[in-house]
Amino acid sequence: MTTNVLNHPLVNVTVEDQGNRIGVTSGSGTRALVSARVLRFACDCDLCGDVKSGKRWLPPDMVPVGTMAETVFMSDPQTVSLTWADGHVSVYPLWQLQSLAVTAVTPMRPARFRAKPWDASLAERIVRVDCAAALSEDAPLFTALEALRDDGIVMLTDVPHEPEDTLAIASRFGPVRETSYGRVFDLISKPNSRVAGETSRAQLAHTDEPFRYAPPGFIMFHAIKTAAEGGGTSIMVDGFKVAQRLKETRPEAFDLLTRAGVTHRRLHEGEVHFETEAHVISLDSEGAVTGIRFNDRCLVLQPGDARETEQLLDALGSFSVLLKDESMQFRHQLVPGELLIFDNGRILHGRTEFDQSIGVRHLRSCNLDRDAVHSAFRTLASRFAPDDAFEVLYQGPIL
Ligand SMILES: [Fe+2]
Repeated sequence: MTTNVLNHPLVNVTVEDQGNRIGVTSGSGTRALVSARVLRFACDCDLCGDVKSGKRWLPPDMVPVGTMAETVFMSDPQTVSLTWADGHVSVYPLWQLQSLAVTAVTPMRPARFRAKPWDASLAERIVRVDCAAALSEDAPLFTALEALRDDGIVMLTDVPHEPEDTLAIASRFGPVRETSYGRVFDLISKPNSRVAGETSRAQLAHTDEPFRYAPPGFIMFHAIKTAAEGGGTSIMVDGFKVAQRLKETRPEAFDLLTRAGVTHRRLHEGEVHFETEAHVISLDSEGAVTGIRFNDRCLVLQPGDARETEQLLDALGSFSVLLKDESMQFRHQLVPGELLIFDNGRILHGRTEFDQSIGVRHLRSCNLDRDAVHSAFRTLASRFAPDDAFEVLYQGPIL
């Protein structure tokens, strides 16, 4: 028998407000009045789609005002069905309706992962994972992926250094992104290279390729040859810490870098012309920092009002001063056998100058897509840390 009231020891469901609302009361007595349209949209029957896996066949406009529920009934011991005015029947697991009743009392938004930004003290606790273990077992790989979420950086140790090893390691974390340099880029010091990374000059910490709409998500540096006494020490800075300090010390500069469009450009006449206008500090929907995009070498100040342009230059200057502050920097001389992976939307990387007369510096580098690395994290989290699998992660620099 179908009716507009369903009494069950675990949940009580009623059709209310002429079918526009569904009353849900849990066994413990908490009650929610849910939008019937929202529930109709959540239907994942064969006709409406498998919402969880991202195969929705019911677009929002097919759930218009006036979508009304008529009756409620128990389809089996674990599910409740609603019949709609057009005759469609939706089926919901009991737990889903119970959780609606509970969250009405304690509103639940998706949990957000909030990073704890680091400073120079990262040197004492950077997560190191044995490369062979990460290649062959999922638990150490998850440890590395977790460090990439928490600190935005992880070091693999005892790494073999044949060319094919670089790709084999990268592919454990996600597909390698092909760039204009190929899949793997051999970063070898050359005196007159037009690629700044290949010269021997010092580099202010920066994110790579901010002139792209979607910069590389994660970067891997695989040390093949380095000369410890010749300089070229890697400098890593947590951009979230820089943003935090800037907000504390110069809030107006912080605010400007979250609002002003800043242009980064890469122009090789007749070959490539990349250009992106975006915020240096990206915020998420709750106003928390979610990504950084900054590279002094390809920064362009567009002409504009003199005072406003100067304010922007000052803000960028304050940001740069913080990047140079050694108390913020994790400095490390990479040696062969070590490999760093870091989040290019959070961690800025630079290096000290090095002396080419002492030795060649050779790093092998490749890029991984941010969402693919996070997908690898979530997939393993479902086994190793189920509570973390559905957290909203920081999504990197946005336009
Ligand atoms: Fe770089």
